[in-house]
Amino acid sequence: MQIIKSIAELRNSVKQWRLQGESIAFVPTMGNLHDGHIKLVKQAKTAADRVVVSIFVNPTQFGEGEDYSSYPRTEAEDQVKLEVVAADLLFLPAVNEIYPDNAMTLVSAGELSKKHCGASRPGHFDGVATVVNKLFNMVQPDLAFFGEKDFQQLAIIKNMVKDLNIPVEIISVATQREADGLAMSSRNSYLTEKERLIAPELHQSLVHAREMVLSGDLVMREIESRQTKVLTDLGFVVDYFSICKANDLCIATEGDTELVILAAAKLGKPRLIDNICFSR
Ligand code: PAJ
Repeated sequence: MQIIKSIAELRNSVKQWRLQGESIAFVPTMGNLHDGHIKLVKQAKTAADRVVVSIFVNPTQFGEGEDYSSYPRTEAEDQVKLEVVAADLLFLPAVNEIYPDNAMTLVSAGELSKKHCGASRPGHFDGVATVVNKLFNMVQPDLAFFGEKDFQQLAIIKNMVKDLNIPVEIISVATQREADGLAMSSRNSYLTEKERLIAPELHQSLVHAREMVLSGDLVMREIESRQTKVLTDLGFVVDYFSICKANDLCIATEGDTELVILAAAKLGKPRLIDNICFSR
């Protein structure tokens, strides 16, 4: 696996592959790789001749008081994991390689970036859209892989690619979970032992909410408030628990059939997010 820190070297490697007629898949990450990330890489391997993975803890998507400086950085372990799954190139840029001092252009992710996670993390999705756009321009992949765990992020990236005519196909990958249902996340490492036992209840509450929606016994807003209370009683500080339309993430009403339930809640230090997508 090539390990590359500069954009110039990255472009050079990609150019060699292009000259040989090879296709390129890209998996952007912030590192601290777990089996969710590795699933993306494995899926990318089956879809293209070459796989580029980036590890870059992107400062512009962290708000004030968030965990930018303490975000887990585990480069050596990450490299080993990527060697095992035979990624072709690891792009590991420094902050000033991605954001030179005089940079002033940002991508605005629009309306969708202002609700759900965007409401409590202002500017977060503009930071994500900006860095993903820049990485797309550096790697110029045919395909890029994103996890459904970050459902709103995935929707925003799909919109950006469409709105800005970026020639990349976005492929989504199902959420990888621990045996007890907890969605894998780099931030799970912030949980105490006791919180770790409670954390899978976030997923459980989504599964129960889906059952309630499908049974049709309760209106959606009642389901949301019941599940918010269940989580609050367990010790979560619920940010939102919202039954939405899967296509635009607007609040669903009783006639809607393609649904996603999005939830975010703090449990001790970490803010956990999860979702469940289904039809009825
Ligand atoms: P990060 O949180 O490192 O996630 C990188 C990719 O892995 C994202 O597409 C995310 O949705 C996916 N992922 C994370 N946990 C997953 C799980 N349990 N199952 C499946 N996929 C999972 O998301 C980011 O980084 C950043 O915002 C980034 C897109 C790299 C831009 O900085």
